[in-house]
Amino acid sequence: MSQSGDDSRETTTTASTPPTSKVVGVRRLKEVMAKPASTRIFTVANQKGGVGKTTTTVNIAAALSMGGLRVLVIDLDPQGNASTALGVPHRDNAGIYEVLMGSHEISTVVQKVAGFPALDCISSNTSLANAEINLVSMVARELQLKEALETISVNYDYIFIDCPPSLGLLTVNAFAAAKELLIPIQAEYYALEGLSQLLETYAVVKKRLNPTINLSTILLTMFDGRTRLANDVAANVRAHFPNELIDIPIPRAVRVSEAPSYNQTVMTYDPLSPGAIAYMQVAREIAERGKAKDESTIDSTFNSNVVSIHYKKDGEIA
Ligand SMILES: Nc1ncnc2c1ncn2[C@@H]1O[C@H](COP(=O)(O)OP(=O)(O)OP(=O)(O)O)[C@@H](O)[C@H]1O
Ligand SMILES: [Mg+2]
Repeated sequence: MSQSGDDSRETTTTASTPPTSKVVGVRRLKEVMAKPASTRIFTVANQKGGVGKTTTTVNIAAALSMGGLRVLVIDLDPQGNASTALGVPHRDNAGIYEVLMGSHEISTVVQKVAGFPALDCISSNTSLANAEINLVSMVARELQLKEALETISVNYDYIFIDCPPSLGLLTVNAFAAAKELLIPIQAEYYALEGLSQLLETYAVVKKRLNPTINLSTILLTMFDGRTRLANDVAANVRAHFPNELIDIPIPRAVRVSEAPSYNQTVMTYDPLSPGAIAYMQVAREIAERGKAKDESTIDSTFNSNVVSIHYKKDGEIA
């Protein structure tokens, strides 16, 4: 497990006074994160609502991008929360729905996330709520996303697909398109209830649609280490998934929940807060686990000073 103490970010603020204005640039980390041998495509899924799927998706994606990797987030939830957190327009523009319906090429709906060195997003819009119905009549309806992704996945080191809280056709499309499954689990009483249904869907997809998908990563979210319950849930998950569980829980932290209302990830909103530090460590651990065996694929020309962080206040760069 790699927990670098050198994840320095230049920021205009301290942990107690987070910036509330817009991020126009982030500085990459001094210590580059390891590149995978080929694109790692993660589906972030749990049909239980509000367990931290979106928060995990956007913050790990942001952290990996700050680590020098090329990252794409696909917002596959009609709620559009990932698009909001990354500050990309998603109401009136074409997004993943239009790609699934075949009216737009995927490359035409990719948006840059402001301020990040190499972070892109494909937004969702409210039409996506119709996708479950409209997809039913389509040929290869479970494979629409997979086929679309094939044309652009080579441009990225990491792709994260943020799923809605259901196991419908959208989530099945995500499972079919992904190489890995990341399950966020909220450390609370009913945490493991419903997990068996999720694992059943995973098993069916693996058998029928995507034999190579691998449940590689489980993350505990909104963890409160002071409670016995949270520790019991952690012990239970660890017992069942010793290799998959990332043993760095994400603490319940107020800055994490505040960040989306400023169209930011916590990685920029308050980089020194406990939630941001935990997500940074988790991202580094994910990168370590999936790193290419051949060190030569790591970009040795990496320069930590390429981009610097500035917070825009009232139209000015601070
Ligand atoms: N570590 C955390 N500390 C505090 N609040 C958190 C944390 N992680 C997530 N939250 C908050 O919990 C709520 C649910 O999180 P999130 O939207 O990421 O879950 P989700 O699984 O994507 O939900 P949905 O199923 O609706 O898509 C949000 O308000 C979010 O800000
Ligand atoms: Mg969500």
